[in-house]
Amino acid sequence: MIPQLVVLISGNGSNLQALIDAIETGDIKAQIALVVSNKQAAFGLERAAKAGIPVFVKTLKSYKDAGKTRQQYDIDLASNILERAKPSLTVLAGFMHILSPDFLSKFKTPVINLHPALPGMFDGARAIERALEAFQKKEIEHTGIMVHKVIAHVDSGDVIIKQNIPILASDTLEMLQERIHALEHLLLVKAVKLILETEVI
Ligand code: GRF
Repeated sequence: MIPQLVVLISGNGSNLQALIDAIETGDIKAQIALVVSNKQAAFGLERAAKAGIPVFVKTLKSYKDAGKTRQQYDIDLASNILERAKPSLTVLAGFMHILSPDFLSKFKTPVINLHPALPGMFDGARAIERALEAFQKKEIEHTGIMVHKVIAHVDSGDVIIKQNIPILASDTLEMLQERIHALEHLLLVKAVKLILETEVI
């Protein structure tokens, strides 16, 4: 059977689009079985619908409003995904929610995450902004991007692939973001191909 991907998003979904496009051109030999979002308004849901991919939305707010815990959300999210798809590989592509070990332990196949910083640098939110600030304070000379395996600790786990990205003295946040996003699309496609070739039977 063709490898099945599940892609989790929270927003624009430009990285999801890169995967959709790479599958369409035959560069990635897989199928996206499901796109999951924790935000109802995520534009990536429209991208998925346009490509005919089933979507599933589950907001944390619905759990908080019902007095349920975040841990329960993670457990149910994992169950809901696995009821709907049999992922060979699960890709967090701009999914802005830290998944707990309760989520991860339900997945027997790899879960990977794209992060716009180098390993050990700027974990968590606003990574690009924080890198630019550090560059302006002369604390770093360049930044980067990486795709890594997801483990319980945020934005860490074995690095699958990483790439340095220069920061220019003339860079505004928008310019740096644009450069990073364009390279992320290429890196994510490379990482998915690599994992499918080496780890997915
Ligand atoms: C990317 O920069 C990714 O590294 C980060 O969130 C952003 C998502 O962009 N975790 P998009 O939704 O794929 O356009």
